[in-house]
Amino acid sequence: MKYNPCFHLLSVLWMQYFVVCLAITVRNLTTDQFALFQFKDRIFDPQNVLANSWKASTSVCKWVGVSCGVIHERVVALNLTNLNLTGTIPPHLGNLSFLLSLDLSSNHFYGHLPKELGQLHRLGFLELSFNGLNGEIPSWLGNSHRVKILKMTSNNFTGTIPPTLVNMSNLEILDLGSNQLFGQIPYPDDLCVHLPKLESLFLSANELSGEIPEEIGDLSNLEELGFQEMKNLKGRIPTSLFNISSLKIISFAYNNLSGNLPPMTNVPKLDELILWGNKLSGNIPNSISNASMLKHVDIGSNFFSGLIPDTLGNLRHLERLLIGDSNLTTESTTHGWSFLSSLANCRNFTLLEVSENPLKGVLPTFIGNLSTSLQYFLAHGCELEGNIPMEVGNFSNMLLLSLGNNELSGSIPTSIGGLRDLQGLDLSSNKIGGPIAESICGLEKLDTLDLSLNELHGPVLTCFGDMTSLRYLHLGSNKLSSAIPSTLLNLKDILELDLSSNYLNNSLALDVGDLRSLLKLNLSRNLLTADISSTIGGLLTLLSLDLSDNKLHGHIPESFGGLISLGFLDLSNNNLSGLIPKSLEKLSSLKYFNVSFNRLEGEIPTNGCFPNFSSTSFMNNSALCGPPRLLVPPCKKNIHKNSKMMILHALRTTRPNFMMVSSHLTKKHVALVNCNESDKAELLGGDEDERFGLDAVVDQCKGGQPPNETAKDSVENQDKGHQNLSSTT
Ligand SMILES: *[C@@H]1O[C@H](CO)[C@@H](O)[C@H](O)[C@H]1NC(C)=O
Ligand SMILES: *[C@@H]1O[C@H](CO)[C@@H](O)[C@H](O)[C@H]1NC(C)=O
Ligand SMILES: *[C@@H]1O[C@H](CO)[C@@H](O)[C@H](O)[C@H]1NC(C)=O
Ligand SMILES: *[C@@H]1O[C@H](CO)[C@@H](O)[C@H](O)[C@H]1NC(C)=O
Ligand SMILES: *[C@@H]1O[C@H](CO)[C@@H](O)[C@H](O)[C@H]1NC(C)=O
Ligand SMILES: *[C@@H]1O[C@H](CO)[C@@H](O)[C@H](O)[C@H]1NC(C)=O
Ligand SMILES: *[C@@H]1O[C@H](CO)[C@@H](O)[C@H](O)[C@H]1NC(C)=O
Ligand SMILES: *[C@@H]1O[C@H](CO)[C@@H](O)[C@H](O)[C@H]1NC(C)=O
Ligand SMILES: *[C@@H]1O[C@H](CO)[C@@H](O)[C@H](O)[C@H]1NC(C)=O
Ligand SMILES: *[C@@H]1O[C@H](CO)[C@@H](O)[C@H](O)[C@H]1NC(C)=O
Ligand SMILES: *[C@@H]1O[C@H](CO)[C@@H](O)[C@H](O)[C@H]1NC(C)=O
Ligand SMILES: *[C@@H]1O[C@H](CO)[C@@H](O)[C@H](O)[C@H]1NC(C)=O
Repeated sequence: MKYNPCFHLLSVLWMQYFVVCLAITVRNLTTDQFALFQFKDRIFDPQNVLANSWKASTSVCKWVGVSCGVIHERVVALNLTNLNLTGTIPPHLGNLSFLLSLDLSSNHFYGHLPKELGQLHRLGFLELSFNGLNGEIPSWLGNSHRVKILKMTSNNFTGTIPPTLVNMSNLEILDLGSNQLFGQIPYPDDLCVHLPKLESLFLSANELSGEIPEEIGDLSNLEELGFQEMKNLKGRIPTSLFNISSLKIISFAYNNLSGNLPPMTNVPKLDELILWGNKLSGNIPNSISNASMLKHVDIGSNFFSGLIPDTLGNLRHLERLLIGDSNLTTESTTHGWSFLSSLANCRNFTLLEVSENPLKGVLPTFIGNLSTSLQYFLAHGCELEGNIPMEVGNFSNMLLLSLGNNELSGSIPTSIGGLRDLQGLDLSSNKIGGPIAESICGLEKLDTLDLSLNELHGPVLTCFGDMTSLRYLHLGSNKLSSAIPSTLLNLKDILELDLSSNYLNNSLALDVGDLRSLLKLNLSRNLLTADISSTIGGLLTLLSLDLSDNKLHGHIPESFGGLISLGFLDLSNNNLSGLIPKSLEKLSSLKYFNVSFNRLEGEIPTNGCFPNFSSTSFMNNSALCGPPRLLVPPCKKNIHKNSKMMILHALRTTRPNFMMVSSHLTKKHVALVNCNESDKAELLGGDEDERFGLDAVVDQCKGGQPPNETAKDSVENQDKGHQNLSSTT
């Protein structure tokens, strides 16, 4: 008989069919179903996702999260991500012998990985991130030769990385970040030799130590490298790293790396270079321009010195350049600023941060040539001098301009009104003079305006009242002289208003009871003469109130007892008379209280927060009385005249509804009162920038300091606005 190729083929297929049939007799879909039922029975499924779907009446292949193969009807993928499943991972999953892909990420699985998972010889994808798994990373994983993607980030794995992992020779992605792994990192040494297919390696946020080995350069397919937040990772960045032509992302932020940044010989695809927060020194190499695809360069908070290379402009795709907090300079020459003119080539440039470098010199006018796509220009604390160039007004997309803490002089350029989208403007701590440019009032989206600590004179602009987006207005420590415009009362959403240390008079703006969101009000060290408005007592969220060093008269309003969030109250150095209202005893958050240098009289309240205050809070008044520790005369008991006066006073000043108001304590207020740092930042608006930051009161809360003089010191250190103007008048 002639050889019949078709027959041959058929018989081969036949044989295979037999093999498959034999396999089926051992394990089939029923085995998978059984294993999944066992799995379901052993975990907690609060959303009943499995309970509602995984039923014997439905084919396993139609169950939620389950996929079956096309050829063999067996379970090949199990994806149960983000279902709030809780428990240990049941070993029965090891029976899903055709499984190719297992994704249990973003649940609440805890405990050790069952060794039965090692039986899943076909597995190519294992994703267990964002659970609470603990114990060591099992060494049997090394036998899972087919696994290409292994992600176990954000669990509680501890111990060292098992050496057997080098046997996972098909690995393309290895993510072990955010665990508690320790041990020396030279281990990737082997890894570099044995895992040639590795494309992504993430070990961030572990306790690993040692140095990045030169052999890392052997990972010739590497695209992403994430070694962040490992304070014990030290030594140099290996030269070979910048010779991996496939690299796209290098992320080494917040380690302890030192030495120079090696030349960028061959990284044509590099897109992100993140080296923030190390101890790198020397120059930023000119060769950075060889990495021509760079978009995002964040290498700030290091010790880089010398000039900023003007080759940066060759990075045509550059969008974000952060080189702040180093030792970079311009040597006070125009040449030293040529990096800035080169950056004009980067048409998609959005962010330039050079803050906290000793740049020195004058901002050149060619800053105006930078792309109008620029949204952030941050040059805080750079020893800049001279005028702010008019050209900064070119950036119609600018969101944040921060030039605070320099030596800038001249006046605010009127062109600033061209920054139509501006949300934050910080020119504080300079030597800027002249009146405030009216064009500022056209910045309709401005959220934060900080012009404090300058030499501005003229009036507080009436048109500020039109800037209804304002949340933070800081004009303290200038030479402004005018009435406080009543238009400020239009700023219904304002959180902080600081006009301290100026020459402001008129008290209209003291009637701030309608500014319901106010957290901080500082009008101290001005020339205010008036009664204190009792409406202030309705400001439930107010944290800090400073009216000291004015010429205020009248009584302390009884309604102040309603300031339930208040942590700081300074009314010292005024002309206040009458009693200290007993209602103030209710201010349970009050940490700093000062009514010294007034004309107050009567008994100092003794309950609530008052036992925490010392004599300096009360000194130099007319006729206060109380316990000896406050260095005031004792109160004479039962003197008819005295008690009659108190009743009269109470009748005069009591506002009927502050008790009601305080019963409206919302959760938010309680959280504020409890002074939890992170909660507070969130409550106060989330995107809080430290520079414009919440001050004194929040800071006090941080340490939970005792409510006495110590608190005052810390507050005054924070509040640079407290210059003694009264002594200069
Ligand atoms: C699976 O195999 C078992 C025996 O091991 C058999 O009883 C069952 O009918 C098979 N199920 C299917 C779906 O083939
Ligand atoms: C699992 O499903 C989610 C969406 O529900 C998807 O984002 C994820 O990529 C899937 N995992 C796998 C391994 O396919
Ligand atoms: C998971 O549980 C948490 C509470 O533990 C709940 O807030 C969340 O909404 C649940 N997630 C889903 C997807 O239902
Ligand atoms: C499945 O796995 C469990 C635990 O690993 C084991 O006890 C059981 O015998 C297995 N069942 C089948 C049908 O293979
Ligand atoms: C990790 O363990 C620590 C205690 O060792 C525990 O506080 C933490 O909640 C655990 N994290 C997770 C995600 O389970
Ligand atoms: C890797 O696997 C081989 C055999 O497959 C074994 O001999 C070797 O010991 C393994 N290496 C490690 C580090 O486990
Ligand atoms: C960083 O490394 C230096 C030596 O280079 C060492 O003195 C220092 O303690 C390290 N910092 C940390 C947090 O380990
Ligand atoms: C860069 O890589 C090439 C091969 O890809 C190699 O020949 C060369 O020596 C490497 N250079 C450095 C500085 O590592
Ligand atoms: C890398 O940059 C340096 C300095 O700018 C330059 O001399 C060199 O020719 C560049 N190399 C490549 C391959 O572009
Ligand atoms: C700028 O961004 C646009 C839109 O994302 C993109 O199409 C363009 O290629 C970018 N230009 C450069 C030079 O990167
Ligand atoms: C900063 O650089 C100057 C020279 O430009 C040098 O004298 C100084 O020591 C450096 N400071 C730091 C902290 O590296
Ligand atoms: C004030 O604070 C200091 C420092 O914490 C503390 O030692 C002292 O006892 C406090 N005084 C009063 C009166 O609470």
